[in-house]
Amino acid sequence: MKITVVGAGAVGASCAEYIAIKDFASEVVLLDIKEGFAEGKAMDLMQTASLNNFDTKITGTTNDYSKTANSSICVVTSGIPRKPGMTREELIGINAGIVKTVTSNLIEHSPNTILIIVSNPMDSMTYLVHKTTSLPKNRIIGMGGALDSARFKYRLAEALDAPISDVDGMVIGGHSDLGMVPLTSNATRNSIKVSEFLSSERLSKVKEDTKVGGATLTKLLGTSAWYAPGAAVSGIVQAIACDQKKMFPCSVLLEGEYGLNDLSIGVPVILGKNGIEEIVKIELSEADMQHLHQSAEGVKKTNSLLAL
Ligand code: LAC
Repeated sequence: MKITVVGAGAVGASCAEYIAIKDFASEVVLLDIKEGFAEGKAMDLMQTASLNNFDTKITGTTNDYSKTANSSICVVTSGIPRKPGMTREELIGINAGIVKTVTSNLIEHSPNTILIIVSNPMDSMTYLVHKTTSLPKNRIIGMGGALDSARFKYRLAEALDAPISDVDGMVIGGHSDLGMVPLTSNATRNSIKVSEFLSSERLSKVKEDTKVGGATLTKLLGTSAWYAPGAAVSGIVQAIACDQKKMFPCSVLLEGEYGLNDLSIGVPVILGKNGIEEIVKIELSEADMQHLHQSAEGVKKTNSLLAL
């Protein structure tokens, strides 16, 4: 299976690395507009193959989309990342143009591909792709909830002083500092609700730390994070490539589910060989449903800035 990753920056390269290390794809093509950059990253990664025991072939190209032809899955990480103090929403002007061009080039060479959108503001970029391409909705997936849920589990494990493998939890809603909805009331440690171990104050702190997970890292690193975003994308790619029917919260086009319409936002889905195999409807508390709807209003406000 051939997989393309557009953008050989930190997120794109980490994503290619994790895909290769998991060794389920025959080929990963890295594409970047910066002359020689993707080629260099691909060569460096290939020189880890004998050390990390993978056979995935990684190649790089400077903006030559013919090299991406017949990719089963294409990941779009291109665009500018945020700087400390910026919101993801502030990137919309520049990134919308880039995402539109990149996705149209990808589809021209891989009409049957499944697209995974990572560029920010991710929910609006995913909506833009729904509006500007003719791909069916099961083949356009926004990556946010898988990352936010991983950050939620990290914060839960920290609060519980437990190993991460003991905890389970999910974040739905928009991939933004205000819009994320960490489902604290559903989160568990070995199937026991975390509220049995943590006070409501501590749980509120877990929630707040999760929501600013990306911003905290942007402040520390001076640019946006890459290891966890890359790992989250690779998990989604593997679920599709290996037809795992795995559940992740992803940004998908809603048409009435959760009482929402005409936007792309994070809800639980089943991922398999067709991309989104099913949108899973779970029971939400009244408060979580209200937060999801508030989050949707925020996403729609950002969508209104798209010149559609
Ligand atoms: C983050 C970027 C990928 O949350 O949105 O780190």
